[in-house]
Amino acid sequence: MCLSSERRRQLLRTMTAALKPSAILEIGTAVGYSALQMCRVMPEHCRITTIEKYEKRLPIARENFHRAGESGRITLLEGDADVHLKELAKKGCQFDLVFMDAAKGQYLNWLPMVLDLMPKGAVLISDNVLQDGDIIQSRFAVERRNRTIHSRMREYLYELKHTEELETSVIPIGDGVTVSTKIR
Ligand SMILES: C[S@@+](CC[C@H](N)C(=O)[O-])C[C@H]1O[C@@H](n2cnc3c(N)ncnc32)[C@H](O)[C@@H]1O
Repeated sequence: MCLSSERRRQLLRTMTAALKPSAILEIGTAVGYSALQMCRVMPEHCRITTIEKYEKRLPIARENFHRAGESGRITLLEGDADVHLKELAKKGCQFDLVFMDAAKGQYLNWLPMVLDLMPKGAVLISDNVLQDGDIIQSRFAVERRNRTIHSRMREYLYELKHTEELETSVIPIGDGVTVSTKIR
């Protein structure tokens, strides 16, 4: 594992261990690596809900959870996060730790729904927010095909920093991580 992935993994574990959450939401499961990392340090009673839409990854994630003996504590929701976030909100679900790690262009759209799922004191960790350093460049220094995602991620960072509900730190590890606490 490269150093930046190791630092990111450690940050997630440390935050999980410090917060002692009862319910975690992960948006973007992939094959379940981070969900299982969080399982190792979360309290016994904690449950993880994780959302993944890419069909080929779903059976691998399910198998990984099963082999780790964690199928009982992890619920894998299959399909688009957009749909599941609305469903979770309708059911009145609340999560004290949210790990946003899916389609970067959607973070801004998902933020209001995610905030509704977080009680005061909950923490939102968002991954890949610095886009390999591109985010601090002018949009004209960024390749044309990356400009939409670049401007959407800048807007997302602006929202995180200026929403009165949140207190946010940007941490330059990996591709950039933000840690936001809901303060009101
Ligand atoms: C960076 S990977 C997640 C890695 C995982 N969180 C981990 O650390 O082990 C991003 C995942 O988000 C999924 N994804 C992207 N857009 C999504 C969406 N709209 N709904 C659900 N999953 C999505 C992708 O298929 C991909 O597997």
